[in-house]
Amino acid sequence: AVDPTLAGRRVLVTAGATREALDPVRFLSNRSTGKMGYALAREAARRGAQVVLVAGPGNLPDPEGVEVVHVESARDMHAAVLARAGWLDVAIGAAAVADYRPAVFQPHKIKKGEDRLVLELVRNPDILADLGRQKRPGQVLVGFAAETADLAEYARRKLEEKNLDLIVANDVTQPDAGFAVDTNRAVLVHRDGRQEDLPLMSKDALAAAILDRVAALLGRRDPE
Ligand code: C5P
Repeated sequence: AVDPTLAGRRVLVTAGATREALDPVRFLSNRSTGKMGYALAREAARRGAQVVLVAGPGNLPDPEGVEVVHVESARDMHAAVLARAGWLDVAIGAAAVADYRPAVFQPHKIKKGEDRLVLELVRNPDILADLGRQKRPGQVLVGFAAETADLAEYARRKLEEKNLDLIVANDVTQPDAGFAVDTNRAVLVHRDGRQEDLPLMSKDALAAAILDRVAALLGRRDPE
């Protein structure tokens, strides 16, 4: 059903993994499938928002009523998102963006030779942190934190560093949370310090819970 607070709002979601090319046929990537981000985009569209989904490569179908921008690398995703920084009311960073990319892209396929090959990697830009640096009043920024220890503590630090309003933390060492499964067990950390430990739920249900919090954050502000 249409949500009066989210209806017409401009929501951008990032989803999936990025691919960082080594040469024309090889890349570095991770196990993210995009399920959480796609669930968020579907749910935001269902509530009447104008949704742009910036998605890394994957097998999920484009959600109905959502503008999908397909990207490959972290730098592509960064460009697609930052181009919409002034447009968006809400950004939700559900993508598992590669922190590093190969320092050089080899234009020809790397040949096998020596027994040992050393790859040099360089840092990628941080998409959400860059949105956080230019956040305008009224914009709501939501991040995810996949952690293996001290969940809430690292999440809180990330919220501060990236100037976010809400962070969704999950322990990726648990088999029912994280990559390539349909469920998630999340801890929500709010900017005001509140922490909510959510029970195990489907990614669709978690998407709804997150958008309830986003609507509450938007509702405290004047529209337009
Ligand atoms: O710092 P960390 O990668 O753990 O932060 C995770 C959050 O930041 C996620 O919301 C992710 O989508 C976002 N992120 C990003 N750009 C990056 C790295 C992470 O937007 N380069």
